Amino acid sequence: MSASASDGAVVAVHQPDSFAFSAEYAAAAEQIEGRYPPEKRASAVIPLLHLAQRQHANWLPKAAMDYVADRLGMARIRVYEVATFYTMFNKEPVGKHLIQVCTTTPCWLRGSDEVLGACKRRLGIGPGETTPDGQFTVVEVECAGACVNAPVVAIGDDYYEDLDGPAMVALLDQLARGESPTPGSQTGRRGSCPATGPTTLTNQPLPSAAADLATGADD
Ligand code: FES
Repeated sequence: MSASASDGAVVAVHQPDSFAFSAEYAAAAEQIEGRYPPEKRASAVIPLLHLAQRQHANWLPKAAMDYVADRLGMARIRVYEVATFYTMFNKEPVGKHLIQVCTTTPCWLRGSDEVLGACKRRLGIGPGETTPDGQFTVVEVECAGACVNAPVVAIGDDYYEDLDGPAMVALLDQLARGESPTPGSQTGRRGSCPATGPTTLTNQPLPSAAADLATGADD
């Protein structure tokens, strides 16, 4: 394995010899490719790389990049450029649970250091490292786009928000027990409304307005 899971340009030393989509993933790829005119097939490169990563235990070996390049009729170097530019593509193996801790300014101001520290205490690993049992990888990421509910951690496909140290440890405990913690705000906040509850539109709508809302009518 290479030096750092968080370095977007790093590739794994140990690579599989080959890669191909399974029947299920090939069907999904064909559907994506069908969205583009034949001469613009290269536009499907990012979604196809995502598919390849998902099929291959959440990391993207060179063979998968080559496969996607050949499939789309692209020069392989152009696919390497895309895959190594975006940090969402993992160029080396990661743990079963990829813990992406946002440490950009809004999350940092709201306690991302504490969240990262909780990961280190609970798992014994720092950013860019994987637990010896292969269950967890922790990485630092730039803004996850959910600053309003900072600090935020992405785990797999889900966001966990309004975190602090104890809440992060509780999440990791649940994952370690094989449970699926509930995504979203960990303080019970609804969406991104103020932490103390809504401050506008607090009245109950009139019955007729409520009926319109329920049916989607706009007049
Ligand atoms: S800074 Fe963390 S989600 Fe934007």
